[in-house]
Amino acid sequence: MKDHPLHGRDFLKLLDFSSEEIMGLIDLASELKKKKKAGIPHAVYQGRNLALIFEKTSTRTRCAFEVAAHDLGMGTTYLNPKDSQIGKKESIRDTARVLSGMFDGIEYRGFGQEIVEELAKYSDVPVFNGLTNEFHPTQMLADLLTVKEHFGRLSGIRFAYLGDARYNTGNSLMVACAKMGLHFTIVAPEKYHPDKALQDTCREIAASTGGSITLTEDVREGTKDADVISTDVWVSMGEPDEIWEERIRDLSPYRVDKAVMDNASPEAIFLHCLPSFHDLGTGIGREIHEKYGLNEMEVTDEVFESPASLVFEEAENRMHTIKAVLYAML
Ligand code: CP
Ligand code: NVA
Repeated sequence: MKDHPLHGRDFLKLLDFSSEEIMGLIDLASELKKKKKAGIPHAVYQGRNLALIFEKTSTRTRCAFEVAAHDLGMGTTYLNPKDSQIGKKESIRDTARVLSGMFDGIEYRGFGQEIVEELAKYSDVPVFNGLTNEFHPTQMLADLLTVKEHFGRLSGIRFAYLGDARYNTGNSLMVACAKMGLHFTIVAPEKYHPDKALQDTCREIAASTGGSITLTEDVREGTKDADVISTDVWVSMGEPDEIWEERIRDLSPYRVDKAVMDNASPEAIFLHCLPSFHDLGTGIGREIHEKYGLNEMEVTDEVFESPASLVFEEAENRMHTIKAVLYAML
């Protein structure tokens, strides 16, 4: 929006934004959510268009961008590497300049963070990171909105994350919690802890927001009295299948089960960006079951389906928060 302080900015990672700017986006998302629920139209971007590049698969992020854009009156075009020139026949730099001439904004989901940064460098229009190996910033806005809706605040909330913490979700949660003054605890074997430089950056940020960053390998200690328990899949998109065996061995002790929830605060909630392997309802889930005998992986079905689990509210909030990003930055 022309008069919004974030007008014209890219949304590539939360590290690029101040705590006030992030809170502004969360509050804007709440406002837009209320409008949507009340049936108040907000199609402020009629005649504008958004390109959606997905080099990895997606349900939530793609649908959230499409529905948010359509609610704002925009058109969308979905591109994947299979049926576009991106990467194979055309560089990211050239793609950026072509799409900038036709679209008002570009969403990109793919591999290295440097790709979305390059896309943004050569685009004349705002670029939005829909997930890279390193960061998943739109997911963070949804998670923060869900926590704020539930507890009425972000500051001082004790947020524990179990599992692979050196990939997009773990890295981004550490940044998000540091920026917004939450007490963030990573509960994982040391080799799954985030990059040391990012830890140091987040500790420095947390020191100025009243938050904190703690790393532990001990599940009981790390989840004690937590307000939020969260996790992610053990093997992320783009990682090789051969890695499952090692991940199952390393991360099974970090599965979110009833004992973990019972050790947390009695009011604790469970969050997961999804998709999740909590039963045998998926192809990969069944394959892993046949090979390793597991019925559930990073979270038990009992916790996933419990009243403490806000995963579907969190998924819905992807749309409201992505709408806030589009509304502010276009
Ligand atoms: N949480 C998330 O990004 O989901 P998708 O992979 O379905 O977009
Ligand atoms: N870490 C997961 C997140 C999915 C939304 C992945 O990258 O596959």
